[in-house]
Amino acid sequence: MRTTNNRKSLDLPLYEQIAGQVAALVEKGTFRPGDRVPSIRELSRQFRVSLNTVKEAYALLEDRRLIEARPQSGYYVCARLPEPPEEPLVNPPAINPTEVSISRIFRIVMNDLLDPKLAQLGIAFPNPDLLPIDKLNRMLATETRRFRLSSIAYEIPPGCERLRKQIAQRMLVTGCTLRPDQIIITSGCVEAVVLSLRALCRPGDTVAIQSPVYFNFLQVMEDLELKILEIPTSPLNGMSLDALEYVLDNHRGEVKACLVLTNFNNPCGGTMSDNDKQRLVALLDHHGIPLIEDDIYGDLSFSDQRPTVAKAYDRTGNVLLCSSFSKTLAPGYRVGWIAPGRFQEVIERGKMLANIATSAPPQLAIAEFLANGGYDHHLRSIRRVYARKVAQMADVIGRCFPEGTRVTRPRGGFVLWLEMPEKVDSIRLFDRAHRQGISIAPGPLFSASGKYRNFVRLNAGFYSEKMENVIATLGRLAHELTS
Ligand SMILES: Cc1ncc(COP(=O)(O)O)c(C=O)c1O
Repeated sequence: MRTTNNRKSLDLPLYEQIAGQVAALVEKGTFRPGDRVPSIRELSRQFRVSLNTVKEAYALLEDRRLIEARPQSGYYVCARLPEPPEEPLVNPPAINPTEVSISRIFRIVMNDLLDPKLAQLGIAFPNPDLLPIDKLNRMLATETRRFRLSSIAYEIPPGCERLRKQIAQRMLVTGCTLRPDQIIITSGCVEAVVLSLRALCRPGDTVAIQSPVYFNFLQVMEDLELKILEIPTSPLNGMSLDALEYVLDNHRGEVKACLVLTNFNNPCGGTMSDNDKQRLVALLDHHGIPLIEDDIYGDLSFSDQRPTVAKAYDRTGNVLLCSSFSKTLAPGYRVGWIAPGRFQEVIERGKMLANIATSAPPQLAIAEFLANGGYDHHLRSIRRVYARKVAQMADVIGRCFPEGTRVTRPRGGFVLWLEMPEKVDSIRLFDRAHRQGISIAPGPLFSASGKYRNFVRLNAGFYSEKMENVIATLGRLAHELTS
């Protein structure tokens, strides 16, 4: 085996480069299912890298279910290579703005979270087993003792300075250079997006959003009496910019903001390329339309390379970047943030009017965790676990769901988006699954115009082999709905 001098692969850590080369040999058929691949020692000699680097590379390939270790014997190409079903297709663009009405199902799905007896595949809640709960709570106790007075005071916007400094430092890996005073702490990412919509739009205004989209945002827009233009979104590359351009040209002056989930978006998992992020920022700038960017899943990339954000290409302050620690640390702490560009003042004011300040103790704890808690180490370990869970669950879906089912293959985050045969009505599937103790998120939740009737979003973050029968039950119910 020989290393290639591909520039892109050289940007990756060494073990990922080596994993990539072994994977390529498997893909090309040099190593076939059941073949033994070189031992760790052999590969370390050939590539002149340490044994540990090869071990890491093989662990990655095991996570991707490409190779498997056989005790006392070595590593082998998996007998049955993972072949999840194909990815869903891009849906056609919606040309006219639509009013939103999805609240009934939304309430049921959210309430499911309170029922410990249900298998939780519906809400995109992170797996608590992967969160540093005890460490974070210990930090909460020590930090509130250390900063006794601030812990009970209003952290008036922009919010806890120590936390804003930590966030600004971390943003460097996303390609953004932000000063702490350009960041405002919010109560979660949803508040950051709501503040943005309130600042930019009035009732009756239209917002262009990716479709399908995280259902809470549709609820928010219904509440704010906004109209929505749904822009088709590819499961691989995110929002279609050609469609967006077409829509902006045909609804000139009507669209007041554009909401995009740039990385590992919810529900399809797609990520926009750097070129597309750049083009998106330029396109909206050209039309004078602010971009609300949600990057909540950006830290959960399965590779060690964290994707950039569109905000990195913002030269005019037109991008309002929103995120939080809800997917990586503690959703209930309700700590998020926004870098609102030229809308700093109006967002600060909006935050103050909404609830004066975000609760101080969780801000102190998260600031300490980012500074001294090993956040990067934590991310490295949970990303790997999520990658494995997502691959395993997609694999089981491929075996259990009706023929013709497609499932996404996200490169980050922990949700899967399934397109089932047209006859399978996901609302009926939702009802039947509920009766079997399984909570799922049916497709129409993710659209303002009732689309995605035969789609469903599943949280793979809780997947373990013990759950195989839950997926099998869901698959059987979906089968029943095909006739
Ligand atoms: C894309 C997206 N944005 C925002 C949120 C909610 O974020 P937070 O809990 O920080 O308000 C979620 C949660 O599922 C999400 O998927």
